[in-house]
Amino acid sequence: MEKIKVSLAERSYSIVIDSDSLANFGQELSRLNFPKRIAVVSNPTVDNLYGATTRLSLENSGFITQQFNIPDGESYKSLETLQSIYDFLLENEFDRGCGLIALGGGVVGDIAGFAAATFLRGIPYVQIPTTLLAQVDSSVGGKTAVNHPLGKNLIGAFYQPELVFIDTATLNTLEPGDVSAGLAEVIKYGVISDSNFFCWLEDNIINLKNRKPESIIYAVKKSCQIKADIVAKDEREGSVRAYLNYGHTFGHAIEKLSGYGQFKHGEAVSIGMVVAARISARQGFCLQQDVQRLINLLSAFDLPIDPPDFTLDEYVVAMQRDKKVKQGVLTLVLNRGIGECFLQKIDDIPSVYSPFV
Ligand code: GLY
Repeated sequence: MEKIKVSLAERSYSIVIDSDSLANFGQELSRLNFPKRIAVVSNPTVDNLYGATTRLSLENSGFITQQFNIPDGESYKSLETLQSIYDFLLENEFDRGCGLIALGGGVVGDIAGFAAATFLRGIPYVQIPTTLLAQVDSSVGGKTAVNHPLGKNLIGAFYQPELVFIDTATLNTLEPGDVSAGLAEVIKYGVISDSNFFCWLEDNIINLKNRKPESIIYAVKKSCQIKADIVAKDEREGSVRAYLNYGHTFGHAIEKLSGYGQFKHGEAVSIGMVVAARISARQGFCLQQDVQRLINLLSAFDLPIDPPDFTLDEYVVAMQRDKKVKQGVLTLVLNRGIGECFLQKIDDIPSVYSPFV
């Protein structure tokens, strides 16, 4: 079992990573001072696969559970679904002495986390992420949110979980495209902060595609370690946490323009990272061969690299609405070679992006 600490003073917590470990979850949770009465929030697909094991494990360790499922899909990460979670908690008389478990991918984690952050001004919660994207990114660092019709994650809170419990065997039931989408975020960690890890990914393409347990555990562990270190330095994205947005500004524009769901988040980020690397190369911060290495690695996992056919104007308008834009100035994450990145403020978005769109 691998254990990583997210060091945030009194809000510190562990990320526990292992394979085939879900049945031990109750035991792990009983090491913490976590409430005995628990609402498990999931969706029907994940509940069918992992709900019974999770609940049994909890009940064997003396916890009392009640299940609530939200519909599956990004379009349900909404205020209406959030309201349904509050309704469930209130109708079942959950109080401040209760806890919540988010069992599922990014949608479940984000919305259940936000419900925990806001229900009765905050109850403790735990993340059990079951997709690669959630295991390496969204379950770690306490970003919780729902979408608004005008954009993704516009309503939310920073609210740290008490524990992130990762069983990498849950990835075995994912479609290959979903694993690849998660690997886009894994590759991002290599580009922004660890050139050795990037080389390791280049050397382990087949192992990762075959979901070799040791390789998957290593990739998840390295990703969580990098993210935990960044979050410990900058919990609320005042500085270095923005590095995690590498490839995301353009990626979010793709998701918005193509209609949410057309591109998986990791696919849009894959294209966004290639655009960010090309901008970096054009400004002399990295070499063409660094861009090519990134393209090769993303392509090896069947991730897209070319921007879909929207006009520059459409991209610019979409990026200007990004919540990272402050008073018309966009903060872009660029890479210095492979393994280092930095922030650059730009007020002339079209001129920076035009050669690549
Ligand atoms: N997903 C980016 C962050 O957690 O800051």
